[in-house]
Amino acid sequence: MAKTLIAGSDHAGLELKRELSGVAAELDYEVVDIGTHNSESTDYPDYAHQVASAVGRGEGLGLLVCGTGIGMSMAANRHPGVRAAVCSDVFSASMTRQHNDANVLCIGARVVGTGLAAEILKAFLSASFEGGRHERRVNKIEPSNEG
Ligand code: RB5
Repeated sequence: MAKTLIAGSDHAGLELKRELSGVAAELDYEVVDIGTHNSESTDYPDYAHQVASAVGRGEGLGLLVCGTGIGMSMAANRHPGVRAAVCSDVFSASMTRQHNDANVLCIGARVVGTGLAAEILKAFLSASFEGGRHERRVNKIEPSNEG
């Protein structure tokens, strides 16, 4: 099955998103870049919502890059079925796939350098959800399913 990564950024994340799209392509991901496509100042939620909508529809994993990754994650996590995680280290990127079944990776272009960001993305894409007890916990993330 084709692997798809839906990528979005604001102006602050533009360059890093482009670098990371190349990394994902090397890992045989088809990258769908929903924008922004230029360095003009823009609003991160516009891209977070587009990527999160696509991920919520099951079209692939998501990558969102802004200055800190935080605003992107806040907007993306408003979407049902979307679990967006801001990661600044490789361990968290792997664990959030394994234990939280994260489906959107958010990275801060003003927080991590390109080399580390590439390693974070590789860790995220190569890990997979462990299920089992984690499935029960992930289900409880939805407030309507609280224990
Ligand atoms: C843009 O200056 C910055 O606020 C944005 O990229 C992001 O860091 C928001 O969370």
